[in-house]
Amino acid sequence: MRPSVLVARQVFPAIVTRLREHFEVEANNEPVDWSHAELMHRLQGKQGVFVAATEKIDAALVAGCPELRAVCSMAVGYNNIDVAACAARGIVVTNAPDVLTETTADFGFALMMATARRIAESEHFLRAGRWKRWSVDFFCGADVHGATLGILGMGRIGQAIARRGALGFGMRVIYHNRSRLAPDVEAPLSACWVDKDVLLAQADHLIVVVPYSAASHHAIGSRELALMKPTATLINIARGGVVDDAALAQALAERRIAAAGLDVFEGEPSVHPALLAVPNVVLTPHIASATEATRRAMAQLAVDNLIAVLGGRAPLTPVAAPAS
Ligand code: DGY
Repeated sequence: MRPSVLVARQVFPAIVTRLREHFEVEANNEPVDWSHAELMHRLQGKQGVFVAATEKIDAALVAGCPELRAVCSMAVGYNNIDVAACAARGIVVTNAPDVLTETTADFGFALMMATARRIAESEHFLRAGRWKRWSVDFFCGADVHGATLGILGMGRIGQAIARRGALGFGMRVIYHNRSRLAPDVEAPLSACWVDKDVLLAQADHLIVVVPYSAASHHAIGSRELALMKPTATLINIARGGVVDDAALAQALAERRIAAAGLDVFEGEPSVHPALLAVPNVVLTPHIASATEATRRAMAQLAVDNLIAVLGGRAPLTPVAAPAS
């Protein structure tokens, strides 16, 4: 008998077609989020599940789905999946690294430039019919070229952003990561490891790309914001919860930092109301990896992982269980 797979989120039809070549497939064909209870119900009798960063695969769900053998996500971040609970049950978890690195780095850079150069704020001004005359200090922002780029989290995406900054924009690149990169990786990026507080104090533009975990919860909060330059910008393309959104909104309102660009939010798709009320923030709805080609590649990788795992082969991109 062929294994059964659940596609928990509406995805490209070609992806479902490919899955049907290998599995019995039940797919969410509507633009709706299934509740935890519905997901659990639909997973009964299924050996595999295709998810994104949005489906919560927690210990209760794992316990309630005894036949589940593979949780394959089209996202690179996997803080929505209880990897330890899956490992304890022998369930393989996979994510989708690499295929979104350059696209996400492009977006991080775009958000940084839009924030530094006040593109959204000035566009809103123009659309509101408020452009009556040009003035010498009209929407003056901060230079990106030649500035100091700070990167918190120096994985694949951080490194791709560093390359753009150093090679394309002549920026001085500093970073903080739990572990320093090997010299042969660091050197071509022209990036320099610094202590986190030094990063905060010296960055003109700080990009957060650290994965979310209990350890990175509110890695940028009131204390960290207070260390930043009043002229600095902060960009979060990592995960909601890495930045304390309430503390950030207050810092923006009081102009303790110049501006922020946020693609991810605590409790998204809800956005902290105080962030919606300040002009000096660019807000986007978690779209850093959103190009057609990249989203297809991410989904395809999740499919390839399902085919491998349920076919008895090694996963292509497994997520390691946390050390116990
Ligand atoms: C990811 O892949 O983790 C992105 O944030 C999209 O969900």
